[in-house]
Amino acid sequence: MQFGYNNDFVGYIPRPGGDPAARGLLVVNHEYTSADMMFPGIGPQRAKDGFPGMTRERVDVEMAAHGGSVIEIARIDGRWRVVPDAQEARRITATTPMHLTGPAAGDDLLKTAADPEGRTVLGMINNCAGGITPWGTWLTCEENFNLYFLGTAQAHPRPAALKRYGIPAAYYAWGKFHDRFDISKTPNEPNRFGWVVEIDPLDPASTPKKRTAMGRFKHEGAANVVNRDGRFVVYQGDDQRMDYVYRFVTARAYDPADRAANRDLLDAGTLSVAVFHPDGTGEWRPLVFGQGPLVPQNGFASQAQILIEARFAGDALGATKMDRPEDVEVNPATGKVYVMLTSNDARKESETDAANPRANNAFGHIVEIMPEGGDHAADRFSWEILVKCGDPAIAAVGATFSSATTGYGWFANPDNCAVDSAGRLWVATDGNSAGSTGRTDGIWGVETEGAGRATAKRFFSVPIGAEMCGPYFTPDDTTFFVAVQHPGESEDGRLSSFDDPSTRWPDFQPDMPPRPSVVAITKIGGGRVGT
Ligand code: FEO
Ligand code: CA
Ligand code: CA
Ligand code: CA
Repeated sequence: MQFGYNNDFVGYIPRPGGDPAARGLLVVNHEYTSADMMFPGIGPQRAKDGFPGMTRERVDVEMAAHGGSVIEIARIDGRWRVVPDAQEARRITATTPMHLTGPAAGDDLLKTAADPEGRTVLGMINNCAGGITPWGTWLTCEENFNLYFLGTAQAHPRPAALKRYGIPAAYYAWGKFHDRFDISKTPNEPNRFGWVVEIDPLDPASTPKKRTAMGRFKHEGAANVVNRDGRFVVYQGDDQRMDYVYRFVTARAYDPADRAANRDLLDAGTLSVAVFHPDGTGEWRPLVFGQGPLVPQNGFASQAQILIEARFAGDALGATKMDRPEDVEVNPATGKVYVMLTSNDARKESETDAANPRANNAFGHIVEIMPEGGDHAADRFSWEILVKCGDPAIAAVGATFSSATTGYGWFANPDNCAVDSAGRLWVATDGNSAGSTGRTDGIWGVETEGAGRATAKRFFSVPIGAEMCGPYFTPDDTTFFVAVQHPGESEDGRLSSFDDPSTRWPDFQPDMPPRPSVVAITKIGGGRVGT
């Protein structure tokens, strides 16, 4: 019943029937844990050294600190407070039972000795960003799930798939104490992670569902929009150097009048992957078994396999290799879609393309997609680069912020984002402080239209060692929630630990380590944030 570690995505679901700006459920992802900041006397954790200091008890604490939190909050006399003993309050962790649903559920690749049906998984891990649906559920996205697996790939039935997903990365000690995180002992367990999980916070007894129709990859987020024909559309980034941008369109329309009718809407639909052509057009190519190259003679045996190993389908479809796709958000005012591309130090000059024009891209950029005819389900789109990030004062960087952007106004490494009701883009950064620019991470507001387009302004900065996550507005834009993740984490050449942290934010107590925390930002005197 404790808040977890390393808060990332933040979503807010107003309490039905109440004042949407004053009372609601806050849902928060707990992406990962930092053992050196959580436990005394611990150094860097390495598999080859046997994870010194990591006991079974500490591993179980880490597992309990992953997942997500649901809390109720209320704004009383201008201040947000946690509502104690809220009926909906709950923790979802790396051991919470959840169901696999949709076309891949029950497939042989998802079966284990503990789950011979291939339909029930314990827990969700590395939940990075996410989304809130119009029917009030929480989409929370498993990203770097490869980090949690140990063991040898020798004798594994699908070694190429392990390699394509970076498994085992052996970053956590979990597999020492729990056989399901050792691929030598439980070869299919990695296939049960890397999904979008749908949780109903308004029903505390509900079981989370991993929606296999949306594909398995390193999901960053699940920003979404109801298309004009009523179908529900989710844009998704696969956060890896040279990986892809995806889109999921439901088969059925969303029903705004009947919440129950949307309960399993995400189990049927079409997953597609983006191709960005050099002439500024683009297309969505569907990951559908039997279509195009996705046929048995190319190694694609079923729709389930295509979804479980979606990256192979993206490869076969000729998807454009991107500079680490992070959040993707739709501008409700214009229907334009913004794709955060955070960086890519693996792109060589010979590998640049129109949508990823910089070799060794240290600073990242933002691509803007215009769906054809304003139709988010259309096969085609046009696109352009909104801004190439980095310091505009250094010509070699090639940044394209507007000339009105000040020395504090530019940023690098866009990651999470939000769009307010006026159409302004708010960008959270990850990596500024780790060496690409020497400045701290934070939130920057970016104008998207008119003469001010690509003008950025600094809005919020995180403490030392942290990255900026979250950003999420209440429906009336009067509160802006942000998540400060991993404050005090060691950075290039600057060591930090539980015993000797570089900051004790936000408690500033001598016996308290820094703690990842959600911050609620409101405007002095009231009103919409950013006005
Ligand atoms: Fe967990 Fe892609 O940031
Ligand atoms: Ca993160
Ligand atoms: Ca992120
Ligand atoms: Ca990131």
